[in-house]
Amino acid sequence: MCGIVGYSGPQSAVTPLIEGLRHLEYRGYDSAGIALATPSKLFIEKRAGKLINLELALGNSAPIAHSGIGHTRWATHGGPTDRNAHPHVDNEGKLAVIHNGIIENYTQLREELESRGHIFESETDTESVSHLLSDLRKAHGGDLAAAMREAVKSLRGSFTLLAIHADAPEVIVGVRRNSPLVVGLGNGENFLASDVAAFIDYTKRAVELGQDQVVTITPEGISITDLDGNAVTPREYEITWDSSAAQKGGFKHFMLKEIFEQPKAVADTLLGRLSAENKIQMDELNLTTEDIRAIKKIVVLACGTAFHAGMIAKYAIEKWAGIDVEVELASEFRYRDPLVDRNTLVIAISQSGETMDTLMALRHAKSSGARILAICNTNSSTIPRESDAVLYTHAGPEIAVASTKAFLTQIIAVYLIGLHLAQTVGRLTGEEVRELFYEMTELPAKIEQILETVEPLRELTRGFAQSTSVLFLGRHVGFPVALEGALKLKELAYMHAEGFAGGELKHGPIALIENGTPVIAILPFGHEHGLDEKMLSNIQEVKARGARVIVIAQEGANVVGAEHVIRIPSAPALFQPILATVPLQVFAYEMAVTRGNDVDQPRNLAKSVTVE
Ligand code: M6R
Repeated sequence: MCGIVGYSGPQSAVTPLIEGLRHLEYRGYDSAGIALATPSKLFIEKRAGKLINLELALGNSAPIAHSGIGHTRWATHGGPTDRNAHPHVDNEGKLAVIHNGIIENYTQLREELESRGHIFESETDTESVSHLLSDLRKAHGGDLAAAMREAVKSLRGSFTLLAIHADAPEVIVGVRRNSPLVVGLGNGENFLASDVAAFIDYTKRAVELGQDQVVTITPEGISITDLDGNAVTPREYEITWDSSAAQKGGFKHFMLKEIFEQPKAVADTLLGRLSAENKIQMDELNLTTEDIRAIKKIVVLACGTAFHAGMIAKYAIEKWAGIDVEVELASEFRYRDPLVDRNTLVIAISQSGETMDTLMALRHAKSSGARILAICNTNSSTIPRESDAVLYTHAGPEIAVASTKAFLTQIIAVYLIGLHLAQTVGRLTGEEVRELFYEMTELPAKIEQILETVEPLRELTRGFAQSTSVLFLGRHVGFPVALEGALKLKELAYMHAEGFAGGELKHGPIALIENGTPVIAILPFGHEHGLDEKMLSNIQEVKARGARVIVIAQEGANVVGAEHVIRIPSAPALFQPILATVPLQVFAYEMAVTRGNDVDQPRNLAKSVTVE
């Protein structure tokens, strides 16, 4: 996944391009580069590594140009080197291309282009597009948009592409297929970007580009066509959030800021959801009572952290609504023969709305007749656009690669869906729903309480910084929390970490315990099955084998065998994940800081994964 920005207007383009790339760096940080269109020639600078390397290379050397394109890369084809960094140019050095996605038939294209005399400089799939466009532009008498339309017809894969040519420096042409591209409408200037964050400091007016649409921007305006050249009327919308939401606001890292934004994110996602008649307000689901009664099965599709939210959906929806829920890794779903049909409700969960695995799984389910409901945090992104309905979470922009506030709001969204379905099928009364909803409205203050008392946990975490492996144990809804705790630690602290269901311990994982192995156990509470006692036995089992046990337990719970107890406020059993996750996020954050890792941009990762 990569970040893309384009600018055409009166300013010196290097400024909006570099600022744009700074806002997009979360999308990939293996290299960064820009192409500036000065009359008759392109100025290109690109550097492996983070954006700062490009900025240092540029110094004050960037020429004044009023248009250009910029790219920040998450490497797929070709290692993270200067040479593979974007933009990629044609052999005349006059046409530059940047790209997000994968050109699947690039090998064949490259062979054809090489046989026609093109010389390639990089190992990337993208460079084939620069050469192809160069030929097609000539064939179309210098019309770059026409060349792009024709080029795209011969490309396979998913991509956003931007191109610029030195002979028409004001013109930038873009196209998208299965990958995001938005247009920013300024005053005498226009922008293109993977995400509105890139231009929000300049304009709040935006246009979302549809699938296989080609856009041309100049300072005077924009034009959009389909691949056959038919004009498309742009649908303008207003960006509702402020650029301050995409800044650190005094916090050392975006992740820490986002952890502390969780009370508000949860409260905002709950806002206005209960009517005066004690009904969960979910008009955007577009499901009639008959539709809901016809649902035979729910399938949740998601990846990574969103998948863990999906696991929690199973517990909540099955308990409240009595509807069978399957949770499946989106990346696996379409490679078997999934049994979904028109009586299946598919819930696709994605913070970014751009995760390719989730998108492909969603399309597969849709082609089998299933109704698709997206839970998403990013307005107008691809997954909601391709779904039958969308429930937006209100976490605000999540910039840190490690997901935190989006996770909690995804869980809130599945609770709301569960309550709505339960009420509609008559399994919960208005009174019961009101009580559960009331408990949810108490959660933001409880998260706040946890955050006010995290200092001892941060100190405790530092004491485990030399550990090589950390195990997380949970039961019931605490199990996905354990998986989430382990995922956070892996991606941020680069430590071996695994989450287990407590009951599984004796079936193998207990062999991992050595003298001093840290084990973090989430003590279940509020269960009718005495699960807390079973977890206390698990704690004794690992302790007897030398583990150092940290327990996350609700206030007042009896804890035996722990070296440290992290107390969290009490809540009904199903709501435990909202509270128990928070200390695990802080643990992973502090571990990453202590080990000197880059918290917001962990190695090898990108915020949303737009390749399969
Ligand atoms: O944007 P999405 O929610 O679809 O992303 C899914 C995963 O890639 C994401 O949750 C990932 O696991 C996070 N980096 C974890 O913190």
